[in-house]
Amino acid sequence: MKKVLVARKAFPDIVERLRAHFEVEVNPDDAVWTKAQLIERLQGKAGAFTTGSERIDAEVLAACPALEAVCNMAVGYNNIDVAACTARGIVVTNTPDVLTETTADFGFALMMAAARRIAESERYLRSGAWSKWHYDQFASPDVHGTTLGILGMGRIGQAIARRGALGFGMQVIYHNRSRCTPEIEAEVKACYVDKATLLREADHLVLVVPYSPASHHAIGAAELALMKPSATLTNIARGGVVDDAALAEALKAGRIAAAGLDVFEGEPKVHAGLLDVLNVVLTPHIASSSVTTRRAMASLAVDNLIAALGHGPQAGAPPTPVNPEVLTTR
Ligand code: 8YV
Repeated sequence: MKKVLVARKAFPDIVERLRAHFEVEVNPDDAVWTKAQLIERLQGKAGAFTTGSERIDAEVLAACPALEAVCNMAVGYNNIDVAACTARGIVVTNTPDVLTETTADFGFALMMAAARRIAESERYLRSGAWSKWHYDQFASPDVHGTTLGILGMGRIGQAIARRGALGFGMQVIYHNRSRCTPEIEAEVKACYVDKATLLREADHLVLVVPYSPASHHAIGAAELALMKPSATLTNIARGGVVDDAALAEALKAGRIAAAGLDVFEGEPKVHAGLLDVLNVVLTPHIASSSVTTRRAMASLAVDNLIAALGHGPQAGAPPTPVNPEVLTTR
């Protein structure tokens, strides 16, 4: 029986399915292991069930020669050196599609919370400071009928565009590495623009771009300076896509109206400047966290692991590989 490692705690009833095929080692106290601990636990393991918290880099791969499959419980896989995995014939899988609508719901909610000052006004009420109605109390930018800007027009970006265009009568503009097909643009009612136009024209800018060296600090001081002072910025992509220090500075100086952030550079640490300003809504990387969706993500990661290691009904053909070329050379 091959051995697999489940690197973080995940729905025991779903993980249990692995035991029909493999010798399974779990992470009993759900600790976030250091690289050395991860390498130690991965010794002799053919497969790994990972999350965004585990960094699977060339050093880890070199130290764990038995590894054949790394199955991430996330759509993003910037925690994994895919090229290094491919070079070693290791299949990498992610969990696309199952989280699209839930994550888009959350991105929209975070954008609305930032725009309509929901967290800020709630803190005010809880503090006991509310003594009377006031004509412009927490007056905010509108959401309906304004311009929604989306950076990164993959599945989640498209789902957010649909919500904005069809639900809130927003004009949707987007920028992406490659332009969507006319059919997709028509379906989600979105217009392609260059990045500078996106920054200048969006009333509410939502980031959904995958993290890569190319998207590192895609939003920094220069980009924030192009945005409208009344605009909001929402990041549900990855920490590092935004220069958090520059954003804290811009929020403090009122260069943009507000921000909603679910992801942070160096999370779970959060830049102190962001904790200091009131016009930002901060959530702990939970955009995909509905019960149904997190279960679906875990289940897909388990299906991938079983199939990638040659078991179950899809033996040899994991449903959502990131580097499918590895499968053909096996
Ligand atoms: C995960 C995510 O919760 O899917 C992703 O890429 O960012 C989140 O849905 C996180 O990465 C944990 O694996």
